[in-house]
Amino acid sequence: MNTVTLTEVGKSFGRTDALADVSLALAPGITGLLGPNGAGKTTMLRIMATALAADRGTVRVLGADPATPSGRTEVRRHLGYVPQETGFPRGFTAFSFIDYMAILKEWSDPTRRHAEVRRVVDLVGLTDVAPKRIAALSGGQRRRVVLAQALLGEPDLLVLDEPTTGLDPAQRGRLRDVLGRAGESATVLISTHQTADVAALCERVVVLDGGRILFDGTVVDLVRQADGRVWLAQERHPAARHAWRTGTGRVRNVGDPPADVDLIEPDLEDAYLLLVGEAGSDPELEAVS
Ligand SMILES: Nc1ncnc2c1ncn2[C@@H]1O[C@H](COP(=O)(O)OP(=O)(O)O)[C@@H](O)[C@H]1O
Ligand SMILES: [Mg+2]
Repeated sequence: MNTVTLTEVGKSFGRTDALADVSLALAPGITGLLGPNGAGKTTMLRIMATALAADRGTVRVLGADPATPSGRTEVRRHLGYVPQETGFPRGFTAFSFIDYMAILKEWSDPTRRHAEVRRVVDLVGLTDVAPKRIAALSGGQRRRVVLAQALLGEPDLLVLDEPTTGLDPAQRGRLRDVLGRAGESATVLISTHQTADVAALCERVVVLDGGRILFDGTVVDLVRQADGRVWLAQERHPAARHAWRTGTGRVRNVGDPPADVDLIEPDLEDAYLLLVGEAGSDPELEAVS
């Protein structure tokens, strides 16, 4: 059963087609959204989260139409959203900010509301700093404040725009656990630059570039596209689209291999680099970084 459906949805800013008539259907479970900067990820997520109206096409979220005021209200009642960038009202503590968001989300009974705020604060590991002012928190802690408010009420749809930015590995591990559980029943869409997060969490992955969908399928199928295209050698090979010296001293080459090389198992990052490198830019001109 699809919970979110975009049908030929377009959004332009001036002459930039941030989203170029994209069609996509999501079902419960965790979908990763990858793509280079400027690909249109945030634009797509904002449209699903009712923060931005599409210029063209139709959007259905949990059976509601965000083009109408009543549809937007309906979506927002079942949505948890982590925007890419957030500001905070001055003076709030972590607890009071999340509690304030819970009030906006219509949790009117204070006892039940406070219990729910404590639950999400615990989930993201902020219990100890909940009484502190947000201004005094670290970047990773602030990011988790935003995550906590998105988890209020166990929403049917979680739209998360680069939620792992600023988190250390232990915090990312904890977030994976929280999102993995949420994805057992909710529809979760996560944009990220971390292919490792997608490989760890998502069954499905969508790759966006230039406002268009380059790939939509399982992580396994995307990785398979790089089969036979990754090898280790002493040096960078001219046929490699991407190459870097690894910690072992050998160079990981990604591209079209010559004969008789040491082929290795590709990972999601290899497949992503091949896909986006091929569509986006001229490999002849691509520098190795
Ligand atoms: N509010 C805006 N005004 C003007 N241009 C925008 C705006 N939001 C996004 N864009 C442009 O739309 C394109 C897609 O941006 P965005 O959706 O933020 O991509 P991503 O999140 O994948 O980095 C970019 O070219 C960006 O500059
Ligand atoms: Mg973005």
